[in-house]
Amino acid sequence: MMQEEQFIALFDSGLGGLSVLRDLRRVLPQHDLQYFADTAFCPYGPRPVAFVQERSLQIARWLIERGARIIVVACNTASSAALELLRAELPVPIVGTEPGLKPAAAATRSGRVGVLATSNTLNGQRFAMLAQRFAHGVEMLTQPCPGLVDAVERGDLASNATRALAESYVEPLLARGVDTLVLGCTHYPFLRPLIAEVAGPDMQIIDTGPAIARQTARVAARHGIAAGAGSLQCWTSGAPCEVAPVLHRLLGEEAPVAHAEV
Ligand code: DGL
Repeated sequence: MMQEEQFIALFDSGLGGLSVLRDLRRVLPQHDLQYFADTAFCPYGPRPVAFVQERSLQIARWLIERGARIIVVACNTASSAALELLRAELPVPIVGTEPGLKPAAAATRSGRVGVLATSNTLNGQRFAMLAQRFAHGVEMLTQPCPGLVDAVERGDLASNATRALAESYVEPLLARGVDTLVLGCTHYPFLRPLIAEVAGPDMQIIDTGPAIARQTARVAARHGIAAGAGSLQCWTSGAPCEVAPVLHRLLGEEAPVAHAEV
């Protein structure tokens, strides 16, 4: 009997979640993946929570109707706004994303951790609960980073303008004795080389992408979601002709990108 198509789906407000997809392919190289970039509505960071919840539900339902067996919310902002809702409403396992406060609290020696994320993530209840749970004796210095998501969406990872923006967010944290930086947005791992250069060689940088990938692999094994051909199909609510070249720049490979009316 033909194996019905079963794939793992990831979505984000734009292309940032490809950083999680990149980590996932390292642990599940033969699983079929589909990625949804909601570029027509990116960025999510400054938008009303209800809007992010509605978009997350619509996208996840659309992916499940197509055959997604797991939904990875490769977006801290959408996870903060919609993870509980998605888990309550949808029939498949949902893997979420959250800033790596726990590993950062364990890693810091100065007791001061900088958290780079979107304003919605930082103002969300999930973040408050995370900080309450893991920030014992550690000062979490939060820094919303408007403009960094847009830079990654343009594929602009190292221009003077993007560097100046990164400096404006990181240097004040350095001045306050931060020795560990959390990349609390899935777009930011693509800026990691730049952020590391600005922060200096002694800064520890925490990216939860690999942990999300490992968790997704555990869920896939638990639910018997088999490997396939290791294919990748990408969707966008925006214009494929604009998304495809940036996807290629970020992933380092070409992948089919089609428009989805969701
Ligand atoms: N990649 C998303 C995150 O992890 C960015 C959300 C946005 O579009 O602002 O929060």
